[in-house]
Amino acid sequence: MNRPLAHGPAIDAPATVRHRKLVEWVAEMAALTEARDVHWCDGSDAEYDRLCAQLVTAGTLLKLNPELRPHSFLARSSASDVARVEDRTYICSERKEDAGPTNNWMAPAAMRALLQTGQADGTPPLFRGAMRGRTMYVVPFSMGPLGSGISHIGVELTDSAYVAVSMKVMTRMGSKVLDLLGSDGHFVPCMHSVGAPLAPGEKDVSWPCNATKYIVHYPETQEIWSYGSGYGGNALLGKKCFALRIASVMGRAAADKAAGNPGWLAEHMLILGVTSPEGKKHHVAAAFPSACGKTNFAMLIPPPALGHWTVTTIGDDIAWIKPGPDGRLYAINPEAGYFGVAPGTNEKTNPNCMASLKRDAIFTNVALTDDGDVWWEGMTATPPAHLIDWQGQDWTPQIARDSGAKAAHPNARFTVAATNNPALDEAWDSPAGVPIDAFIFGGRRSTTVPLVTEARDWTEGVYMAATMGSETTAAATGAQGVVRRDPFAMLPFMGYNMSEYFQHWLDLGATLAARGAPLPKIFCVNWFRKGADGKFVWPGYGENMRVLEWIVHRVEGSAGGELNAFGTTPRYEDIDWSGLAFDSARFDLVTDLDAASWAGELESHDALFKQLAHRLPGELPQVRERIAARLAT
Ligand code: OXD
Ligand code: MN
Repeated sequence: MNRPLAHGPAIDAPATVRHRKLVEWVAEMAALTEARDVHWCDGSDAEYDRLCAQLVTAGTLLKLNPELRPHSFLARSSASDVARVEDRTYICSERKEDAGPTNNWMAPAAMRALLQTGQADGTPPLFRGAMRGRTMYVVPFSMGPLGSGISHIGVELTDSAYVAVSMKVMTRMGSKVLDLLGSDGHFVPCMHSVGAPLAPGEKDVSWPCNATKYIVHYPETQEIWSYGSGYGGNALLGKKCFALRIASVMGRAAADKAAGNPGWLAEHMLILGVTSPEGKKHHVAAAFPSACGKTNFAMLIPPPALGHWTVTTIGDDIAWIKPGPDGRLYAINPEAGYFGVAPGTNEKTNPNCMASLKRDAIFTNVALTDDGDVWWEGMTATPPAHLIDWQGQDWTPQIARDSGAKAAHPNARFTVAATNNPALDEAWDSPAGVPIDAFIFGGRRSTTVPLVTEARDWTEGVYMAATMGSETTAAATGAQGVVRRDPFAMLPFMGYNMSEYFQHWLDLGATLAARGAPLPKIFCVNWFRKGADGKFVWPGYGENMRVLEWIVHRVEGSAGGELNAFGTTPRYEDIDWSGLAFDSARFDLVTDLDAASWAGELESHDALFKQLAHRLPGELPQVRERIAARLAT
């Protein structure tokens, strides 16, 4: 099919595309954006290589030294486009209360006028002519294994070849998805433009973007519109926009209480397999806010003394979780690659990740070494004597000392296929998913929250998750290091009213319990307690295996612990300390429940509940009262 439009390009749909609605939508969007031409991505390796070569010519990608980092590239973004823009992210439900108090909201009609149709005063919509002079890539992708009952399909239209190649790494992308879509399959339309049209003859910049940015979700019609950014979660629309914000809406909409259907969950969670020395395997899904070590935990290598345990990765960032026929919860990783934070990653903190990045990777905003390889803060103890920093400037350790300039941006990222991970779980692509035995929720807290606590029950676990706090990181623009409440690590990723999401979790637990299915146990962890010297007390990384071992043993009913106001925490003797010098005094530093800190903590839970009062499940303030009463005794 090659159908020229009145005001748009030929859309060049391959003859195999049978989905009339898709073709019509592509034509409509090509006309709106006045794209120069349309390229339908087939997802092949040849196409990937061709687009990467084109990006090298355009100056967006720099080919790294093939001897040192085969088949890998470096991108440097605009300094104004380095992270997710939460203040520019909108949930445009018909009613404001359905987006809830934690989301930016605009009425869908007003947002559509701004983006798509034009405003009453004659201001043209941002998307009109937004792709002038550029190719529009049609990127069909599956979130989750092809054909899985838990997976869903999306189609992203983008004027960024960087996005198209990144989507090939991050999702199952290309013709096979179009085949699966057939003539009338359902897909989530994901519209993306960097918002930088080119006038005839105008020379492009290496990282086109726009100072105006909108990351927009229409939950009722399940559409995504993203304008102005080419970076990460703003632009790779399968990830945060679809797999969390829109999918959270889909999961709840699927629930039908009267029919006993609990719906499903879309969570900001890694999924790992953990196999005991006896060969027994459990699966754990764990939620942490951005840049709190999810990728490290998902690829954990146990310390030598616990080397008889193995951890395998199913996913490092997102989990879609659905009850199986046996009533247990099964999880898939909707993604097929990792878009992880590079700084701090090294052979000690995450050897599996370093191995994954040996080849076939796209790095964004890391530093370039003189021999054409990459470097970032924390990769090696001693930095190279000279680098080109993430903004293309000379960098030396002396310059860093004088000016504080970072060689890599703190939110510098790698993009790499899951199949590069030596610790990839054999079931990572299984359509059925893996059964979840435990949920873990963890924030970055220098004080107050103990190393690990098991919730008394599902409701108290939901309370732990709902009240989770974390010190902010560079993954989002804005102030860093301040504690913000980040319920379920979903604050930036919720597609609807947060309080109704809490209710969805409570209802799902109740429905499954009524069916007699065993619910996963819920744990809260904190790797980040600091001592009086301001240093982390807990060694973290591979040593987190000791906590994971305790968790697995709790699931099996074989580990001891002590009940406190918050839940059950291990005593010193409940943890396997072989091979680690960590005395009970240090253990107390990471596990004590300080009454004064907890009084402050509960006040801050109150503030959260006040913010979320509309539709807040009554069970949560009740748990708060129970904890307060326990603390008082
Ligand atoms: C991410 C994030 O990129 O959470 O995964 O910011
Ligand atoms: Mn994330």
